[in-house]
Amino acid sequence: MYSSILRQDAAGTLPFQTAGQPLKTNPPPPTRSDASLPNPPRVTIHSGAKARYDQPALGSASTTYASSISHDRTTRSAYSSMESQAEGQSIRGGRQGREHDEGASVYSYNSFRDVNKYVKELHGRIFNNLNDAYLLPSDEDEWARLDKQGSAIAIAFNGPYPCPEVVEAVLLPEEGRTKRILDIGCGTGTWAMQMAVRFPHTSVLGVDLAPPPIDQTSFPPNLSLEIDDVNFGLRHFAGQFDLVHMRCVSGGLANIDQTILDLQECLRPGGLLLIVDGDIALLNEDRKTIHPFIRLPEDGGPEITAVSEQGSWLRRLIWEACISCEISGACLTRTDEVDDLGLWDAPLCDPETACSGGVDLPIGPWPQGKDLSETQLLQYVGVLVRQNLLSIHRAYHSIMLKNGMDQATLDEWSSNVEKELRDLNPRMWLRFRFMMARRRAGEGLPAPPLPTAPTPDPLTSTAQELEDAEQRRRPQVRYPAMDIYYTREENMARMRQRRSTFGTFPPSVVKTRWEKTQAGT
Ligand SMILES: C[S@@+](CC[C@H](N)C(=O)[O-])C[C@H]1O[C@@H](n2cnc3c(N)ncnc32)[C@H](O)[C@@H]1O
Repeated sequence: MYSSILRQDAAGTLPFQTAGQPLKTNPPPPTRSDASLPNPPRVTIHSGAKARYDQPALGSASTTYASSISHDRTTRSAYSSMESQAEGQSIRGGRQGREHDEGASVYSYNSFRDVNKYVKELHGRIFNNLNDAYLLPSDEDEWARLDKQGSAIAIAFNGPYPCPEVVEAVLLPEEGRTKRILDIGCGTGTWAMQMAVRFPHTSVLGVDLAPPPIDQTSFPPNLSLEIDDVNFGLRHFAGQFDLVHMRCVSGGLANIDQTILDLQECLRPGGLLLIVDGDIALLNEDRKTIHPFIRLPEDGGPEITAVSEQGSWLRRLIWEACISCEISGACLTRTDEVDDLGLWDAPLCDPETACSGGVDLPIGPWPQGKDLSETQLLQYVGVLVRQNLLSIHRAYHSIMLKNGMDQATLDEWSSNVEKELRDLNPRMWLRFRFMMARRRAGEGLPAPPLPTAPTPDPLTSTAQELEDAEQRRRPQVRYPAMDIYYTREENMARMRQRRSTFGTFPPSVVKTRWEKTQAGT
């Protein structure tokens, strides 16, 4: 079954859904072990290489290209025929750090020759070519948006990750072994790059569907990037990583439960899984209740309680776009449940090490903090989030057009969204939830104890070691809209509270139009 669907995928049509399939049926993801499957491409960008994926070069023969992104695969595949047609390909055997990948080959990537393999143009934007469910583009505008979003989250976390006492303990140097970090859906590669710089004794690998925009001048030696679709499984990484991070990738996942299992399998014993995801249910000013959707004429009667005349266009557009993603094969409804549950029941992780939480980012510079510095912090984050959302809502159009919406309606929705964002009315928060847990030492065993940093001896330590130790002792600056839940009970209480304000949803306009298109009416 999957092989035929995936052959369609390789030809550029829907990967996980065929006409008439029910909307919420997300098939289990394909696996690399199925010999009938085409093996998806994995492209590795080595730190030594002059890797620069030059977006303006797309479709332009006159630009010069760095043929320096290498393409790594475990076995020959359906994509091999595409490779062999490509001029001047060079395949050489094996690659450091992937010894277990028998038969691995490295393929020199040339952006001019190969670009259509990895990206395609749709409605004037550039999209990845591996996964049709993932709705957002991969181009300059999207990279700028992602970096703003990443900065806003990092301000709220007070660094690239929450709970630094756990993350930094897990990454403490260990004699005789290089610690490894995996960033799934690395986007621009910024987070992976920050981690490589911050932890120079580690080796960092970022994986994404699309070639990331690499800045050659700042590419650290301990960073590499691969192109791959994680829906095909991650068995080739089993037991290798000390930290596995995945942020805001759910829109491209076919089966979140399977992916979370795969991510746990990538961990070494004691390794940490950290997942961060945006919550599409925008919050009211009180940070507790969910803001209603704008009411549309086709929404139905008073039994539909999740809508209101004062409801939000932004909330509606984001939700309709997510329904569109589901139509194309993503599992966002299930992701929302999984994000609510945290990792207390993750089979390979120790529940004693689980925690969850979230940061609420204001949509626009409207909040007042308890003092001037808090107000400035919140409002700066608000500006970044508003810019991010002003960019994202039109990026959603492509996937909705594909599923039967018309441009005039989408333009009308988008201008209402822009007005809302400009007027800062309604005042809302965008929440990013996180969950983390460490892998057990073995089946049925707790996780090994967290490594502890040795206290540096003031007589023999370097100034840098003393400064680092001092830094660890300093109290963290606390973003005022952050929550952490250390127990399953606290997490469940938050989940129940959130769900109690959902209300009854309207029928989705996108889904109704898509069903009509499918029925040919
Ligand atoms: C919203 S962006 C987030 C990027 C980055 N993690 C960040 O937080 O800035 C999601 C990224 O995940 C990638 N992605 C989505 N589905 C994927 C999949 N199945 N396999 C690999 N990468 C995926 C997309 O290409 C995109 O770059």
